Amino acid sequence: MNNNFKEAFEKTRIAGSIAAGALDEVETIIQPGISTDKIDKICYEYINDHDAYSAPLFYRGFPKSCCTSANHVVCHGIPSDKILKEGDIVNVDVTAFKNEWHGDTSRTFKIGEVSVKADKLVNATYAAMMKAINLIKDGIHLGDIGSTIQTYVEARGFSVVQDFCGHGIGQSFHKEPNILHYGKKGTGEKIKTGMIFTIEPMINFGNYETKTLNDGWTAVTKDKSLSAQFEHTIGVTKDGCEIFTQSKKNIQIK
Ligand code: MF3
Ligand code: CO
Ligand code: CO
Repeated sequence: MNNNFKEAFEKTRIAGSIAAGALDEVETIIQPGISTDKIDKICYEYINDHDAYSAPLFYRGFPKSCCTSANHVVCHGIPSDKILKEGDIVNVDVTAFKNEWHGDTSRTFKIGEVSVKADKLVNATYAAMMKAINLIKDGIHLGDIGSTIQTYVEARGFSVVQDFCGHGIGQSFHKEPNILHYGKKGTGEKIKTGMIFTIEPMINFGNYETKTLNDGWTAVTKDKSLSAQFEHTIGVTKDGCEIFTQSKKNIQIK
């Protein structure tokens, strides 16, 4: 790998591990009765303590340090005094900016005991993301990623959100290419060694359609069905990929 890739990988590895560490911290305190503002505070402090910045904070006017998206919220939920309760599912999405590079990751947490359907949705969303990640290597097509995710979740009766996608990431938070979580095998751009991007499928229990609330951020399912999401930032190598946002606790890993 040439030197430019090397620097990009090294810096993204550091930013990614801070973002993953913030989620590990959230994982230790998340339980029924906690507010989403408390989760935001934990993310803010963890990132700050690691001499990094939270990329979402003030990004296009976003007011908080992470996104907290519960139940029928698809993404970009704004932390508030909302209290999480037993049976909820909530995605926490963190992006750290360190030494001018970004690392972006999210996990959907189950609050206490969740319904069988919520459990299946969350597990399938994680498995779909990992299935796509396991496919990544120099030379595959972007459509192979989308097709793998779509086939896996539709076989279980779920649907893939089309209004939001993964993205290239690096010194910019969001850059080309768009990484669609649906599509056809063998279509689209070929991915190449050194590319860094996110895979972050949003999967709905019901219909794929979303709408954005009046706050200008919160995206919800139109049919109010549950939605789950996981996100990793990865770097493409000749025979595979490196996951930059792996949990340090080795949870959520196959
Ligand atoms: N972290 C989100 C992503 O995965 C983007 C959040 S932008 C915000 O791309 F402004 F809502 F925070
Ligand atoms: Co992202
Ligand atoms: Co994110």
